[in-house]
Amino acid sequence: MSERKILWIIKYRPKRVDDVIGQDEAKKTIISWLTEWAKGRIPYKKALLLYGPPGVGKTSLVEAIARELNFDILELNASDYRRKSDIKRIVGTAATKKPLLKKGLIILLDEVDGIDPKADEGGLEALVDVIKNTINPIIMTANDPWKEQFRVLRELCELVDFKELTENQIIALLQKICDSEKIYCEREALRWIASRSMGDARAAINDLQAVAEGYGKVTIGLVRAIVRGREKTINIWRTLNEIFYANQAWAAKKAVTQSEEDYESLIRWLNDNIPKKYSDPLDLFRAYDALARATVMLSRAKISGEWGLLSYVFDLMGPGVSLARRSEEILKTRYGFPDWIRLMAQLKPMREEREKLAEYLSYRILASKSTIMNEVIPYMMLIFRNPSDPVIAARLALGYNLSKDMIKYLAGDNTENVIRALEKIKRARPEEVGKETKRGPEKREARKEKSSKGLDYFIKS
Ligand SMILES: Nc1ncnc2c1ncn2[C@@H]1O[C@H](COP(=O)(O)OP(=O)(O)OP(=O)(O)O)[C@@H](O)[C@H]1O
Ligand SMILES: [Mg+2]
Repeated sequence: MSERKILWIIKYRPKRVDDVIGQDEAKKTIISWLTEWAKGRIPYKKALLLYGPPGVGKTSLVEAIARELNFDILELNASDYRRKSDIKRIVGTAATKKPLLKKGLIILLDEVDGIDPKADEGGLEALVDVIKNTINPIIMTANDPWKEQFRVLRELCELVDFKELTENQIIALLQKICDSEKIYCEREALRWIASRSMGDARAAINDLQAVAEGYGKVTIGLVRAIVRGREKTINIWRTLNEIFYANQAWAAKKAVTQSEEDYESLIRWLNDNIPKKYSDPLDLFRAYDALARATVMLSRAKISGEWGLLSYVFDLMGPGVSLARRSEEILKTRYGFPDWIRLMAQLKPMREEREKLAEYLSYRILASKSTIMNEVIPYMMLIFRNPSDPVIAARLALGYNLSKDMIKYLAGDNTENVIRALEKIKRARPEEVGKETKRGPEKREARKEKSSKGLDYFIKS
């Protein structure tokens, strides 16, 4: 059971160098560079920058080589070393300490292109300093090292190019996994998955696992129905960077179409972050104008079903926002979470309380949860929040046996008033207290029987 839950990209992560398919040039370069370190010689370039598309073996090859050459490895992700102070403290310390047991210590800085050169000011410079002073090998990885801000870093490093995997390489990898999992697979089906993965082994293995675990076999019919063409995805921080710092319109458009964020959320992200990067009023005007048009176009596409309009949405959100900036300056403010998303997260406990209350009342009033949410709870709120007559609310609370949390949700600032009135009624009529206490699905029938009780009590009194 638990075995099948393991992600195959983890289970089949290359353990030895030979398990890494392709990348022969890269293997040679990294191994001979590290062998120099192992012999106690410091190579001319003290850092490597491995670059290439996602899912082609950059990180896993370094791990496999470290294992085979008996190096320790300190693996850090961009989020661990974004700030200048982190780089000095974590990376700087490691770079100047000799490991006691192993041949050496590799410092692996994954995804250095995640450093935002403006917001994380001084980060790249600090990294350059660390490399100049390191006594241990430093290896960095990136998808795109060609941006201007990486120039100084690039010059300090030996660049190692990783290639997209070919269709046949990916098919071989998938076949090996199917053999080892004893899963029936058709060659054509593997070819289909490989051709849609765009050279990304991680994506291909994930697709294979989805079909194999869902259906127990991998046939061409199944993969045709299930595996969609895949665009490589990039996370929100990179999407924003690539829109705001794009030099070319096509790059900004690509950032939008490849973003892992859906278009509506991306509009919210842009909406909240444009003023963090642009300061010139005209730039701001142009950017918001483009974004507003994108929003209109997107809702038009959704209402009419004319999805061809999406292309204009992408043009407006990507190049539209990017080219809106005519001034040279980009502000150094950090990106922030959109307020809307933050608000939804903050309101989550309230929304959950509302759901719970609706479910509870649906058994008692015998109405659907949505009816209760839309038609009953708003009126109850009016009653519970009326400071001049907490007794009606207290009687309802007693009749329906509402919990303290439910009362609090309904009454808000008026909670104390209602609770006080409720205590008073309970003291005056102890026989009514605790009559409606059965809970749980097995008591559902019993509850239905009693369901009109709360209302009866309310009407009678
Ligand atoms: N060349 C390869 N040979 C065998 N498996 C591979 C290869 N490349 C990727 N994989 C598979 O894909 C997974 C992800 O690979 P890895 O993390 O090395 O990619 P990456 O190039 O570092 O990607 P990213 O740029 O997104 O960090 C691995 O666990 C492995 O299962
Ligand atoms: Mg990686």
